[in-house]
Amino acid sequence: MTLILGIETSCDETGAAVVENGRRIRSNVVATQIDLHRQYGGVFPEIASRQHMITITPVIEQALKDAGVGYDDLDAIAVTYGPGLAGSLLVGVNTAKAIAFARNLPLVGINHLEGHIYANWLIPPDWPHPEPPPEPEFPLLALIVSGGHTELVLMHGHGQYQLLGRTLDDAAGEAFDKVARLLGLGFPGGPAIERAARLGDPASFHLPRAWLGDSYDFSFSGLKTAVLRIVRSFEEKAQAGAHAPRTRLITSQSQPVVPHIPVNNLAASFQEAVVDVLVEKTRRAAEEFGVKMVLMGGGVAANTRLREEMSRRLSVPVRVPPVKLCTDNGAVIGAVGYYRFIAGERAGWDLDVVAGLTLPLINP
Ligand code: KG4
Ligand code: ZN
Repeated sequence: MTLILGIETSCDETGAAVVENGRRIRSNVVATQIDLHRQYGGVFPEIASRQHMITITPVIEQALKDAGVGYDDLDAIAVTYGPGLAGSLLVGVNTAKAIAFARNLPLVGINHLEGHIYANWLIPPDWPHPEPPPEPEFPLLALIVSGGHTELVLMHGHGQYQLLGRTLDDAAGEAFDKVARLLGLGFPGGPAIERAARLGDPASFHLPRAWLGDSYDFSFSGLKTAVLRIVRSFEEKAQAGAHAPRTRLITSQSQPVVPHIPVNNLAASFQEAVVDVLVEKTRRAAEEFGVKMVLMGGGVAANTRLREEMSRRLSVPVRVPPVKLCTDNGAVIGAVGYYRFIAGERAGWDLDVVAGLTLPLINP
């Protein structure tokens, strides 16, 4: 049995987890900073790194306690070293180094994006059967959709990635967050848009889809601008005293910035446009490359509409982690850590953070 302590501090969640053989979650503790950042409408990097400093040790201790293990039971420490906010990453990396040094444990540096993909190797916490689900089968397509990334990747084997497409501007999650701000739905935007969209009609506004020809690249900034224009036009109408539609809006937890904007319909139409492009490009790539399955990962993969449409429109199996494993956490880092550890990978004491780290790509 191989036990890895996975540590994640790339953005605004302090995560630590103990993972057995890359698949079984023995513990998974996440301290979220969402309430601290809400007042700024996004993640405030300086506050994020300071808060990681405060929470990292208790989070790690809790993860060990929940797993019923001590440092001596661990086989290695795996830590995210990029991509992400440098000041946040530094806290995790330096803590991991200190533990590895003090306890004489091997250290493995992990790419956060691989974590989002390897969430699909973890046994879901509520898995009802004694046998674990089968491991994902190669070749497969992985769609990473998070706050910082939108990448469609062909995966030939463990650690073997071929990039098919990525966003040319905003990441999918970033678009959700920006549009949520425009609609006065608060932070983080993804879940807020999803809640509002449930009360809206996705066909009410026809918003643009950036197909970009045959390319597998994505672009979401035009869509965001289209929503902005609609919001402005409603604001202007309201100011001019014109008869804007009197829609009573939204979820119980949010308030529109400007009255009369059909927030729920706009949220639903926006969500539909994002989902349409993500699903359609993935479907086309799955066919072209004859993959055995499609995996999703990253915060936006928590989106119910995206999950439904991906499964409905694709002819190959689609696997998505449970919502808690889509957003940032230590267990996914422990999962990648296991596969990297058994492949013999070790980081030195010179392991540094790389804010702009990309997936390690192979030539097509
Ligand atoms: O993977 P993640 O936790 O952090 C990064 O690595 O970026 O992703 C966070 C992103 C945020 O942009 C958030 O708005 C989005 O994921 N998100 C969602 C949902 N839940 C989180 N987007 C759409 N629908 C959701 N339900
Ligand atoms: Zn992430």
